[in-house]
Amino acid sequence: MKNRGKFIVFEGIDGSGKSTQMKLLAERLEKKGIKTRLTLEPTYGLVGETLHNILSGKIKADPKVTAALFVADRLDHITNENDGVLKSLEAGETVICDRYYFSSYAYQSTEVPSEWVVEANKLCADSLRPDVTIFVDISPQVAMERILTNRDTVEIYETEEKLTKVREAYFAAFEKMKDTENVKIINGERNIEKIAEDIADFVIENIIQI
Ligand code: ADP
Ligand code: TYD
Repeated sequence: MKNRGKFIVFEGIDGSGKSTQMKLLAERLEKKGIKTRLTLEPTYGLVGETLHNILSGKIKADPKVTAALFVADRLDHITNENDGVLKSLEAGETVICDRYYFSSYAYQSTEVPSEWVVEANKLCADSLRPDVTIFVDISPQVAMERILTNRDTVEIYETEEKLTKVREAYFAAFEKMKDTENVKIINGERNIEKIAEDIADFVIENIIQI
């Protein structure tokens, strides 16, 4: 039987550089002979598509509905028998995921009670806990500059006020869960290559251990 792969999650406020960094980490791991799969939440499955429409403002939904849909999308992402994350991990792949339950703790907790969000995500946490959550930290000001310069569309959570609350909610959740979750905070306001080097060194030394 193959060794189970590692589950590495990237978190951060919008525009923090997560998707840039996850790709760079995958390239570095592949060079070391580690088979990696990149994935993201919300997914592009049935529930995930609905979430993308809510996030763009195309569909309106009560924040409680959005919070519940994120849980449903996540459970499908974990367990789907065709392309679920558990299946990839069991096949020995290292899975790198753009956002997971800390995104719900941070974003949904600004709109619905955080105890509910944590409780509703318990099935996810019990089924699949990340080997590490890498938080790429940037200020909401820098995030808004990047979003406004680099994108044609702006999503519902992308205002400086909202991202300030979200960043605070991330840190509150990290503190609350410090005994059960492995979180690595990385300064994301540096040169892309320097950040990538730090993340790869950390992951190879502490998570993959080769
Ligand atoms: P996220 O996935 O967190 O939204 P992205 O990786 O898409 O973030 O990055 C958002 C934008 O910021 C992109 O245009 C990207 O090229 C740019 N960017 C990413 N990392 C950095 C960095 N360290 N310094 C400056 N710009 C960056
Ligand atoms: P993403 O596509 O990663 O946006 P970005 O590249 O700008 O970071 O995520 C889309 C949005 O979904 C983002 O604003 C955060 C939000 N989100 C939640 O609110 N809760 C969640 O559980 C997840 C996974 C994402």
